[in-house]
Amino acid sequence: MPNKDSWDSLYTVKSYEGDYELQKPEITILEILKDTLKGCRMLDIGIGLGRTTHHFAPLVKEYIGMDYSFRMINTYQKTFPDTPKNVSIRLGDVRLMQEFQSNSFDVVLFSFNGIDYISQEDRLLALEEIKRVGRKGGHFIFSTHNLQYVDNLYSIKFGNGLKYFLYQCYRYLRLFYENGGPGKYRNKDFAFLNDGAHHFQFQTFYIKPLAQIAQLQNLGFKNIRLFSVKTGDEIEKSQSNGANKDSWIYYLCEFP
Ligand SMILES: C[S@@+](CC[C@H](N)C(=O)[O-])C[C@H]1O[C@@H](n2cnc3c(N)ncnc32)[C@H](O)[C@@H]1O
Repeated sequence: MPNKDSWDSLYTVKSYEGDYELQKPEITILEILKDTLKGCRMLDIGIGLGRTTHHFAPLVKEYIGMDYSFRMINTYQKTFPDTPKNVSIRLGDVRLMQEFQSNSFDVVLFSFNGIDYISQEDRLLALEEIKRVGRKGGHFIFSTHNLQYVDNLYSIKFGNGLKYFLYQCYRYLRLFYENGGPGKYRNKDFAFLNDGAHHFQFQTFYIKPLAQIAQLQNLGFKNIRLFSVKTGDEIEKSQSNGANKDSWIYYLCEFP
């Protein structure tokens, strides 16, 4: 099934219900930016059921939330029918955002790895579009899966009972069937993998942090900072080269 259809499925939408907490690196980034947000125009891409809306919308002047899944947007609007005055919600795809003028947003957010469900070519299109709508000196925040985590994807943990052990064996074999073994990815910078999320419904983009930094730099993004999903702390530049094994990483950078 194409990723867009998987996002639109009732099963996937339901799995996001009730998740309204910020993730640790989002808390850190919000703390860094909080004094600059008042007066900002913000675009939140891939809002899903609006987890980030509750935290960011009250802090900015204007907040636009967008998602390409009709069911996500529809469920969000049904759950929260009283839209605050400064909030508007749209159906739209990050790859083609003609409805938005160039240089029109101070902050763009694409949270919880939403950017990982398109191909490498489309990712470049998406990043170009994001760069186009962002104002010079404004901020782009997003997270993406870490290809340095791949070995952990295939790991089997003991001590949680037979049923869980058998499930992990199934998962291990299915990962092998879908993607081949983890060794295949050690010398790659990025890969499109079926990592088992939502019962193996998605093809997901994984990228090494240094390759992600280079991709952003090639597009002109500046002051790129990385944050750990496990601790919320900033990741040392030296660590991002091979050592960091977080499953995904948050990036904060400035528009050129
Ligand atoms: C992992 S969910 C995250 C939802 C929410 N932002 C959060 O952090 O809880 C990713 C969201 O990105 C949306 N998405 C994926 N690709 C997209 C695209 N090309 N354009 C717009 N939205 C997209 C999906 O429909 C989904 O709602």
